[in-house]
Amino acid sequence: MKILITGANGMLAKSVIKRLDNGNELILTDVEDLDITNEIDVTNFIQEKKPQYIINCAAYTAVDKAEEVYDLADKINGDGPKNLAKAAKMVDATLIHISTDYVFDGDLDVSKFYTEEDKVGPVTVYGKTKLHGEEQVKNNTDKYYIFRTAWLYGNGNNFVRTMLKLGKEKEELSVVSDQHGSPTYAEDLANIIGESIEKKIPYGLYHSTNQGFTTWYEFTKKIFELANIDCKLKPVTSEEFVRPAKRPKNSQLSKDKLLSYGINIPNWEDGLKRYLEIELN
Ligand SMILES: NC(=O)c1ccc[n+]([C@@H]2O[C@H](COP(=O)([O-])OP(=O)(O)OC[C@H]3O[C@@H](n4cnc5c(N)ncnc54)[C@H](OP(=O)(O)O)[C@@H]3O)[C@@H](O)[C@H]2O)c1
Repeated sequence: MKILITGANGMLAKSVIKRLDNGNELILTDVEDLDITNEIDVTNFIQEKKPQYIINCAAYTAVDKAEEVYDLADKINGDGPKNLAKAAKMVDATLIHISTDYVFDGDLDVSKFYTEEDKVGPVTVYGKTKLHGEEQVKNNTDKYYIFRTAWLYGNGNNFVRTMLKLGKEKEELSVVSDQHGSPTYAEDLANIIGESIEKKIPYGLYHSTNQGFTTWYEFTKKIFELANIDCKLKPVTSEEFVRPAKRPKNSQLSKDKLLSYGINIPNWEDGLKRYLEIELN
């Protein structure tokens, strides 16, 4: 299959490339080769290459900085997917787009989790622009998958890497204990994408994190336990750890829809163990 991957230098893209590099013809582009915000370039490139699948791993992902640069973030997260969706339709390609738990306000009681049918209501610039991207995909093509993920880590700067570094440097660390979600290994999300293509599951929107739920505090505890790091951890509230962009307290996404199509979704602890085997060696 001919597959175009945008944002190919990004963290998720690296895992997607690895997962799909098994007989497929991969066309890899990052912003220097194909700026997804440039409608004419996107149209021409896709009409020339005629991929069967387009996987959009490009995004503006600096959640806090986005609060100050709405237009830029929206151009990349909103207009970019629109350009890709329109061009995908012209060549009858399937568009695979990645979205986020930040499309929700996160105020749902933590005894519950969000399904694909739940009402969205982003409260951050990042979340608003990512929701705009989802809408543009849905409005401009029928052949699409939108995979909403959260708490992603993999081959790039990420929370686990930061905690491993800080844990070795400091005696005590404060970590937020009232935000709930599923840490998601990029390799596992890449596999969800790969299996969805191979199993030809119905087009549409899918919640796509690792299985199981935890908090950033408990996640860090597990990282330190598995990496044998002796650093004291102090649980703190979101109110004690204010950031420019408000973090959702509930980022728990139900994966029942994906599971109903037989997609393999490992537990977050399992993903973390596999990641650390690579990261620590
Ligand atoms: N990381 C998370 O925790 C998380 C959570 C939920 C959802 N997601 C979503 O998952 C997807 C992948 O995230 P990630 O963490 O892999 O992102 P990432 O590492 O930041 O990669 C994004 C890539 O997009 C490129 N890019 C930026 N603007 C572009 C443009 N105009 N045209 C083409 N490429 C452009 C970036 O290039 P430069 O680096 O040169 O700018 C970068 O290589 C995104 O859609 C993100 O919103 C991520």
